Amino acid sequence: MGKMWAGRFQKEADSKVNDFNSSISFDGRMYKQDIFGSIAHATMLGKQGIIPKEDADKIIEGLNGILADLTSGALQFDMEAEDIHMFVEAELTTRIGDAGKRLHTARSRNDQVALDIRLYLRDEIAEIQGLLKKFIETVCKMAEDNLETIMPGYTHLQRAQPITFAHHLMAYANMFLRDLGRLSDTNKRMNYCPLGSGALAGTTYPIDREMTASLLGFDGPMLNSLDGVSDRDFCIELCSAIATIMMHLSRLSEEIILWCSWEFKFMELDDAFATGSSIMPQKKNPDVAELVRGKTGRVYGDLVTLLSMMKSLPLAYNKDMQEDKEAIFDAVDTVKLCLVTFDPMLATAKVLPDNMRAAAAKGFINATDCADYLTKKGVPFRDAYKITGTLVARCIELNCTMETLPLKEYQKLSDVFAEDVYDAINLKTCAFTRNCIGGPAKERVSEQIAAVNAALTAF
Ligand code: ARG
Repeated sequence: MGKMWAGRFQKEADSKVNDFNSSISFDGRMYKQDIFGSIAHATMLGKQGIIPKEDADKIIEGLNGILADLTSGALQFDMEAEDIHMFVEAELTTRIGDAGKRLHTARSRNDQVALDIRLYLRDEIAEIQGLLKKFIETVCKMAEDNLETIMPGYTHLQRAQPITFAHHLMAYANMFLRDLGRLSDTNKRMNYCPLGSGALAGTTYPIDREMTASLLGFDGPMLNSLDGVSDRDFCIELCSAIATIMMHLSRLSEEIILWCSWEFKFMELDDAFATGSSIMPQKKNPDVAELVRGKTGRVYGDLVTLLSMMKSLPLAYNKDMQEDKEAIFDAVDTVKLCLVTFDPMLATAKVLPDNMRAAAAKGFINATDCADYLTKKGVPFRDAYKITGTLVARCIELNCTMETLPLKEYQKLSDVFAEDVYDAINLKTCAFTRNCIGGPAKERVSEQIAAVNAALTAF
């Protein structure tokens, strides 16, 4: 295909340059957005009398035909084309002749590509939000079923204090809820239209930027034409939001991997979401969770690619910026793939409450409650802490738990101890009496579930 910019040149581009320069292999996926943008632009050009109304109509009809043919597969991309913008315009001109050559009036590929990516990512954000919302519902549902499932809460991966599995899950639900918000925030800032910025300095034609912005569902036109064509902060912001989702998913993945080990056995994955080993017949591996954990690094890489690519670029457009697409598309594809697979894996996993309970019984996770018991009876907390530490040491010596340590051992250290200490250090009591806002008490976790579900309705 002859180059559209051939007039200035006396030679064809070297074929290596052609291949090197070409982006159609990865920007072809924006063909719908490219066509919608061109339809809005042509509509505006026709209405403003910048091109004849009949030409605008022909362009729109031609573009709709290309859209239908690309969607049905009747038309394939020409891989020789420099990018999706050149391809659509050339195809249009082949189909409708001279009118097609008028489409690019008062426009540059610089504002065109800045528009297409925004339109494309706007749809992707909505899709990721849909998947994330569904996933949060899965987490809430699982929490609902585990309000009384006692498990050890950890710090430093050491058993720390008793909580419930529902409480643990709702920590994640809140993280993913903030992720949903971050996606909306990105969209709010991104949703301004760069079309009409031209190559960098706008245009002398009497274009109506408000009109194209509103036809394309934007909140308004971008207010500086250089900015319109030269920033990719919205890609960086979205990639950062996606990297944060992945970071959260990787933490949950890591925990699931631990929970599925024989060392923990808090959970068993459904056979459909686990894999075997080619040599070890006993193995049931949590590959999905491991891959999500691994792919998190890949998305961080995409974010670093975007930040590094934009660093120090002078205004306005530079070809470096063509590198934005593969990175942000990879981040978008990866997070969607992870959510689609992770959600049913979690939903079908079998929780093993007895094992969680058994783990909670070891590790003296009720020691804080024992100290609190003394404190509530008037012993200063620091003294209570020391007495309890000594009791724990005694338990280790006697190879028993705080629940099975005889009362006389308690009373050797403080005469404040009475029979009711066993109530105070009962694991259920320990978890369920932590009923401050945000705590593991059943009614508090139920409130958390209700609050998250209510917040979801805003998305
Ligand atoms: N394929 C290019 C990109 O993705 C489109 C913009 C080209 N503009 C230019 N001045 N060469 O960035």
